[in-house]
Amino acid sequence: MSAEDGSAPAAPFDLEAIRREFDELAARVPDRATWEALRVRFLGRKQGVVRSALEAISQVAPAHRKAYGAAVNRLKLHVEAEVERLEVALRAAAEAGSRRTLLDVTLPGRRPRVGSLHPVTVAARAIEGIFRELGYTVAEGPEVEDDFHNFEALNFPPDHPARDTQDTFFVEGGLLLRTHTSPVQIRTLLARKPPIRVICPGRVFRCDNDLRHSPMFHQIECLAVAEGITFSDLRGTLEAFVGRLFAGSGVRLRPSFFPFTEPSCEVDITCPFCRGNGCETCSGSGWMEILGSGMVDPRVLANCGLDPDVYSGFAFGMGVDRVAMIRYGVPNIRSLFENDERLLRQIKA
Ligand code: DAH
Repeated sequence: MSAEDGSAPAAPFDLEAIRREFDELAARVPDRATWEALRVRFLGRKQGVVRSALEAISQVAPAHRKAYGAAVNRLKLHVEAEVERLEVALRAAAEAGSRRTLLDVTLPGRRPRVGSLHPVTVAARAIEGIFRELGYTVAEGPEVEDDFHNFEALNFPPDHPARDTQDTFFVEGGLLLRTHTSPVQIRTLLARKPPIRVICPGRVFRCDNDLRHSPMFHQIECLAVAEGITFSDLRGTLEAFVGRLFAGSGVRLRPSFFPFTEPSCEVDITCPFCRGNGCETCSGSGWMEILGSGMVDPRVLANCGLDPDVYSGFAFGMGVDRVAMIRYGVPNIRSLFENDERLLRQIKA
């Protein structure tokens, strides 16, 4: 074949058609795989359309070679530039896409962990709330006490076992960590004139550590002193209080002894778990011991400068931790103070 016989074409490839086809395909390159196929098809070393068009120059009639060569070169430059531009665009889109993944605003939010009140705080607030409604105010006293307020004025004889170092933490200077909230009774009686209706919440300390005892625990003391207060007032108040705190539980009074009350009694409540039928929690008795109480001993009134022939009163004291344990079924008092988040979350009130 030669150019002279007129059989050699001016252009063996329709370069315009190739360019149109390329442009059409290049307009729709959504991903890397499509881009790669496009690149191989037009610029591939072996079968690439552009290379084949370049190599075909030998078939072009000499008179047209220059023009054809220039046209193939323009096509090659155009395809190369477009393929590169597409690659840059794809990479930019991929980066933007991964940034979008990091910031996927459609994902559900991460809930911040919200704290809750400690079960002992919840129990203390429930108790305080009931007494506030009954007209009581809150009185507080120091945790480091002296012998007079913690023992002597409360009618503990000098050799009473509660004064033993086995029970009491003594601190320097003849002071001690209060073993109960009853000294706040003394402080209140010395500071105010009857009628008095106070509750005294606070921390107390004893040298005791086992499943049911912690060296630090919480009590709430209740004190009512006025003219003409009787044992019936004590009983009525206990019934009103217990019935509210443990929805419908009743009370049982058992004779007991405390140096600062006369007569004294232990107070049991109907077991809130079995309603008094007897269960494992109440050891089958149907009752649970919850607090100590009694009529304020005339000697305590006298120690605080009040005439026992004019004034009388009642008092009771309870362990707040015990109330929390009963409410939430916590068997071990110490687990309330270990700050194990799992327990606190479980009994979140
Ligand atoms: N203070 C006593 C204790 O810690 C509890 C108590 C019993 C308080 C009888 C009282 C009461 O006010 O009348 O064991």
